[in-house]
Amino acid sequence: MKTMFLGVTLLALVAGGCGSDRNVTSIPTVKDHFKDSFLIGAAVPVPHVSGLDPKADSIVSLHFNSVVAENCMKSAEIHPEEGRYVWEDADAFVKYGEDRGMVVIGHCLVWHSQLAPWMPYGDDGKYVTAEVFKERMRDHIHTVVGRYKGRIHGWDVVNEAIEDDGSYRHTPFYDILGEEFIPLAFQYAHEADPDAELYLNDFSMAIPAKRDAYVRIIGELKQRGLRIDGMGMQSHIGLDYPDMGEYEKTIVALGNAGVNVMVTELDMTALPTVKFGANVGDNVNFKEDQNPYPSGLPDNVSKEWNDKMAGVFELYKKHSDLISRVTFWGTYDGMSWRNDWPMHGRTDYPLLFDRNYNMKPFMEREITQN
Ligand code: XIL
Repeated sequence: MKTMFLGVTLLALVAGGCGSDRNVTSIPTVKDHFKDSFLIGAAVPVPHVSGLDPKADSIVSLHFNSVVAENCMKSAEIHPEEGRYVWEDADAFVKYGEDRGMVVIGHCLVWHSQLAPWMPYGDDGKYVTAEVFKERMRDHIHTVVGRYKGRIHGWDVVNEAIEDDGSYRHTPFYDILGEEFIPLAFQYAHEADPDAELYLNDFSMAIPAKRDAYVRIIGELKQRGLRIDGMGMQSHIGLDYPDMGEYEKTIVALGNAGVNVMVTELDMTALPTVKFGANVGDNVNFKEDQNPYPSGLPDNVSKEWNDKMAGVFELYKKHSDLISRVTFWGTYDGMSWRNDWPMHGRTDYPLLFDRNYNMKPFMEREITQN
């Protein structure tokens, strides 16, 4: 199941990088190159939207046709106190995407991380009752989705609900409402904007138990007649993970479950893998020997990174009938959250453009030769 969102866009012949001191080469844009396959998205942070990073803005405006809010729509940001919403950054983000004719994605409505700290608790510091929490969740979703009704193409409704072993993650949402929190969130989002697409989203989607859990949940939502359009595979990957065979099986399984598959947060670390869980909250202290390339990526590692990314995109092209969007979690290496996760203060090389805003070779090859 898949429908393309955009009509044909102009094939612009443009320079590959924006801060580059190379000779200008004429190459097509990334979004035009993939226009018959899938949308190409980028997560944008607030400084970028507010004009403080003009080079990043040129890259996004030229090469991407979809944007997602990196942080400003998370409940801690947009709804920091009961009854008090902060709209400025989210309004600017939506306008940014609209001004550029992009498919604007909202991220995210229900997530335990960057959760508004007041939301699950009563004055006594204990969890509120299920009735109160349901009402708070309904108010939050109705207010946020309702404000951008008709302007946000799709919402990550529930983010990271499932553990790697396929069980429900213990979060305030699950602990107070049980499994019902997922259908409720989808119901509220649909009430607030019946035309918006609605998605689930999670990391480590190549793990079979996690894949199976989501296939089951998608089936249950559909069985109840609730709207579910897509499932996001975050795809914060590395040179030695995930198992690409299992990753491919997940693309196919989600497609077979009757939803659009979206790669929603793609970035690939070039650094040694830090062994521990994949939660955003898990973060380890800086260790010098885990930061081997502070002043540039050696040619052999760069080649390895580019070859692997070329393979990842081959897979996306192979399944372009199932995949509706490929979104990078950022634009250029200097701004990636992976410089600080899972370890603070490293110098990483995970995105489509390097620190000088030059396009990575694998993509330049892809759009000029294929
Ligand atoms: C990250 C942002 O990029 C960081 O700036 C922030 O400090 C933490 O969150 N999964 C998600 C995203 O769904 O919202 C997270 O974004 C990365 C992991």
